[in-house]
Parts: sequence; C-alpha cells; structure tokens
Amino acid sequence: MEEFHKVRRLPPYVFEQVNRLKASARSRGADIIDLGMGNPDLPTPISVVEKLCEVVRDPRTHRYSTSRGIPGLRRAQANYYARRFGVKLDPETQVVATLGSKEGFANMAQAITAPGDVVLCPNPTYPIHAFGFIMSGGVIRSIQAEPDSSFIPALERAVRHSIPKPLALILNYPSNPTACVASLDFYKDIVAFAKKNDLIILSDLAYAEIYFDGNPPPSVLQVPGATDVTVEFTSMSKTFSMPGWRMGFAVGNERLIAALARVKSYLDYGAFTPIQVAAAAALNSDGAEIEEVRNVYRRRRDVMVEAFGRAGWHVPPPPATMFAWARIPEPFRSMGSLEFSKMLVEEAEVAVAPGIGFGEHGDDHVRIALVENEHRIRQAARSIKRLLASAGGGSDNVIALGARR
Ligand SMILES: Cc1ncc(COP(=O)(O)O)c(C=O)c1O
Repeated sequence: MEEFHKVRRLPPYVFEQVNRLKASARSRGADIIDLGMGNPDLPTPISVVEKLCEVVRDPRTHRYSTSRGIPGLRRAQANYYARRFGVKLDPETQVVATLGSKEGFANMAQAITAPGDVVLCPNPTYPIHAFGFIMSGGVIRSIQAEPDSSFIPALERAVRHSIPKPLALILNYPSNPTACVASLDFYKDIVAFAKKNDLIILSDLAYAEIYFDGNPPPSVLQVPGATDVTVEFTSMSKTFSMPGWRMGFAVGNERLIAALARVKSYLDYGAFTPIQVAAAAALNSDGAEIEEVRNVYRRRRDVMVEAFGRAGWHVPPPPATMFAWARIPEPFRSMGSLEFSKMLVEEAEVAVAPGIGFGEHGDDHVRIALVENEHRIRQAARSIKRLLASAGGGSDNVIALGARR
C-alpha cells in the first residue's frame, strides 16, 4: 500500500538505526556509554519538583489549563527576557507557552506556511527546523550553519534564486548540532536583511543558558526593531534540566504569536497547570540552579575534549550547548557518519549521533552529547583510544573493523 502523503515526506529517523544497535548490544549485556541523544541526565532542581508537588494537591489545578499558558507563567517569561536580555515583552500579546519548544516551533510552521512556501533553513540543524515546515507543505532551501562572513552573501544568493521568494529564515545559535554561537552584530545584519527582504525570522534559542566561556549568547530580539519580524523560541528542557516536563516558549512579533496561539487553541489546552506554576517558579528563581547546570556541562566538556584528544580524536571545545561537533577521525572518514556511529556502538560500546541525521552537510561529523558523567566520558575515551589504535595499522585494519559488523 502506498504511504500517506505526509509520512512519505518524513524519512525514518536516522538516529533510530543507531538506537536499534544500541538496544541489541545492551540486550547482549554490553554497557553502552550513551552520548547520542541530547537528553539531559541531570535532575530537575528540587525546589521546582517541590513546587509541582505542592500545587498538584489543589484539585482546582486538575482542570483544563489555558493553551497560551497561565498569566503568571507568561509574566515570568517576560521578566526573564527583561532581566537576561534587556528585552521588553508584553506577556499578553508577545508571549505564548508551548509544550516544549519543539511543539511551538512545529505549530508555528503550521500556522504560517502555505503550500510551496520556501523556508531558509541551516544544514546541518536540529531536525524539526526543516521537518516542521516540510510537514506543513513548505519547501526547504538549505543555508550554511556557520554564522560567519559568508552568511549574508549566501542569504542574498538564496533569496535571489528562490521562487517564490522565501517566507522565513531559521536561526539556531548556539546551534544544535554544531555548537556555533552568533554575536549581536551578526543578528543586526540578519535583522536588517530580513526587513529588506520581507523575511520572517524564527530563532531557536534553546541553549540560551548553556554557555561556557563567560559570554552569554545574545537574543536576536536585542536588535532594535527585531520584534517587527521575529519570533524566538526558548526551552526549560536544558536550562533547568526539565526535558520531560515539556515546557517552552515562543516570544516576539505579535502577529506571529497570535497566529501560533490561534492554532494551538484548536489543538491543546496547555500544559498541566502544576507544571506551569512550577516552571514559573523556576524562571523567577535567582539563577543559581542554572549556574550549577552550566558548570556540570562545562566540566564534562573539558574532560571530554581532553580525554578524547589523548585518545587521538581532536574535538574542538564547544563554546556553548551540551554537544561537541566532532569531525570523524581520518582513518574512518570515508565511512560516513552513520556507518561510523554504528561501528562505535559495536566496537567501542559508545553511542554518538551521526551527523547525517542533521542534514547532508553533517555527514563528515558526529555529535557527542555531554549526558554521561565525567567518569563515563573518560571510559568512552579509553574505548575509543583502543579502536583508533587498532585502526592505526593502516587501511586494512579499518576495512576489517568495518567488515566485522
Ligand atoms: C536546538 C533545539 N531546539 C529545540 C529542542 C527541543 O526542546 P524542547 O524540549 O523544548 O522541545 C532541542 C532539543 O534537543 C534543541 O536541541
């Protein structure tokens, strides 16, 4: 039977292939060190958990909530933007709470896309950036992920050669998977470009608080006038280690926020009220918990870069995010990222995310997530060292390693 129109446009998740190998290795008793999925392993701060427990006892919170988010939560998010970025938002018209930022992004795509609309999307990138629009009938035109001096000329080319003219541009800095960060000057150029070319900017700032080198990543909304064309998405998942709670936000341009709120009003009744109240408490807290989360990832990053480096795999230290974007070591480069990742599971008992899962331009890299403790990261490095050493004997050994699977 022919596959449904929409499903045909969604290729099977590449990461599933590695997951399957991981599951079967585990069922054989292997102790897989899982640096694959970006699924934070740290517990949610206890004060946030306690707030949830307290609120859930009140039966009034058991009813349907509001799809846009309760007012106290939207106010807490507006206050966070004021404190952290100096950006003033009206919680009534410029803030919507979402069921994780992924849901918000996908439903924004659904709200604004007409069939055939062109959207400029980084490649490699987090899959929902492209597939949110593909599911909504849009067409993706890939752009580079690095926010460097060739970005604007590449955008100019993309706009010149797209028919119809692009509807929107997706930004994601700090980036998953590349960990690239953007400066405020970069955003200034982008906002000017977007205004000139009538482009909507959708900025994914999920890693706003996971940075290591003393430079907090800016928000594109800090650019004067950016709200005329921009919506930005943030997430509680990484900042407060709350991935399972499904809580995120869209903020910015009133017309776009209203469009998202309208679509969501048909789809959901908002997150469970106790979750929203606890999320508001987290956002209103003094930031000490965020600092702790940041320090854990920073230490893991340093251990990973050092231990992998000693193993012979030189990984650039990511300035932000919980990921390192690592070029496949030379002896294995021609395998491509999927085969290399499968081999790592089988030969080194280490799982990483193949770069191809983030787009074709990611295929010579893998993404290493810092979601295991320092001891386990060192253990992963030792296994990888053995693997690299056995490949050091020349291309015959690499072929033999590949063939063993
Ligand atoms: C760049 C980026 N955006 C969005 C998300 C999804 O976050 P949420 O849990 O808020 O849906 C992730 C999660 O890994 C991400 O890396």
